[in-house]
Amino acid sequence: MVRHGEPSTGSGPETGSGTSAVPRRFACKVDDLEPGTSMVLPGDDSIALFRTEAGEFFATGDTCTHEEWSLGEDSDLEGDEVVCPLHMARFDLRTGKALCLPATIALQTYTVVIEDGQVFVE
Ligand code: FES
Repeated sequence: MVRHGEPSTGSGPETGSGTSAVPRRFACKVDDLEPGTSMVLPGDDSIALFRTEAGEFFATGDTCTHEEWSLGEDSDLEGDEVVCPLHMARFDLRTGKALCLPATIALQTYTVVIEDGQVFVE
């Protein structure tokens, strides 16, 4: 079992609301999400699931914290960072932290668990 996005320390107003624990949700099979791409897990709180070029999975809130934009549907992955194409805000996928303006609020992050070739978010 591989876990990404374990709860981190230092959450607060500047770093956002931190890692959230939600009921485990099946996202996809590992091979369903190509490296360098993302998808949306719809729900009351939509979640964006990212797979970096290096093959790591991360999950964050789907909506950019600057304005309304789905990062899971349309964003650019650069290493462990996601760039919102609407106004170019950048977020750290590991912590959710907003790395540059215009975003100042962190993305919620979620733990990704990989078991038997399947990806879960919790
Ligand atoms: S909506 Fe994402 S940077 Fe403005």
